[in-house]
Amino acid sequence: MATVLITGANRGLGLELTRQYAARGWEVIACARRPEAATDLTALAHASGGRVALERLDVTDHKGVDAAARRLAGRPIDVLFNSAGTMGRGSRVGAGFPASRFGEIDYADWEEIFRVNVEGPMKVTEAFVEHVARSAGRKVVALSSVVGSIASNTSGGLYAYRASKAALNACMKSLAIDLGRSHGLVVAMLHPGWVRTDMGGPRADIDAPESVAGLLRVVDGLDAEKSGRFWRYDGSELPW
Ligand SMILES: NC(=O)c1ccc[n+]([C@@H]2O[C@H](COP(=O)([O-])OP(=O)(O)OC[C@H]3O[C@@H](n4cnc5c(N)ncnc54)[C@H](OP(=O)(O)O)[C@@H]3O)[C@@H](O)[C@H]2O)c1
Repeated sequence: MATVLITGANRGLGLELTRQYAARGWEVIACARRPEAATDLTALAHASGGRVALERLDVTDHKGVDAAARRLAGRPIDVLFNSAGTMGRGSRVGAGFPASRFGEIDYADWEEIFRVNVEGPMKVTEAFVEHVARSAGRKVVALSSVVGSIASNTSGGLYAYRASKAALNACMKSLAIDLGRSHGLVVAMLHPGWVRTDMGGPRADIDAPESVAGLLRVVDGLDAEKSGRFWRYDGSELPW
């Protein structure tokens, strides 16, 4: 049976990814930074007949990431799904992104956004590359965002979050080249749409089940030719 590891699985898109992969019969290693507080995820795990296992993982805690990789040593991971992400303190949709307005930039917030959104997926991929390499699926994906597309930026602002997703794309592109050559892995960036989660807010375009159903189709269709590219949940390609 195929296995997926998902970061940020306790809510939002990570939780829905867990639900849909488990419904397909996959083994899900569902990572949350505080499993003891992950009520919905725990309920999902209990109802899954053992297919969903919780793992403690804060993507900014590099020693903790290495420890999780050691705990799972020898376990093939077909899809490494980097979903955890942040827009930073007080910068949710509707809050006006106060930490990211020109002239009022909160640089501590900026650093935290980069630690989670850029260094997080990079470190998780470093730690779990051998698990993915020993699987049949051999895929590493990350939830980026259309706002990380420089060509698509027509509204300005959102400095830290935009920059973090553009930087994530740069890292994932290099990983596609390097891990394609060294381990035969496929690596891709995914935009989930504007989704009604805590991050996306209630006025977003689509709900998490619709976004995730599309994301799973995109991930299923990834191959060497599609590696190193930036895909929307509906299967269309995004420009850099
Ligand atoms: N929703 C959208 O419209 C949208 C659009 C484009 C891209 N995205 C991207 O999609 C991904 C998921 O977004 P979402 O809408 O599901 O966001 P969300 O509802 O705000 O959930 C964020 C998830 O990331 C986790 N997380 C944050 N910091 C973490 C850390 N240091 N270590 C481990 N987990 C951490 C959170 O855990 P806690 O509960 O512990 O905080 C939570 O599980 C993000 O990468 C986001 O940038 C979302």
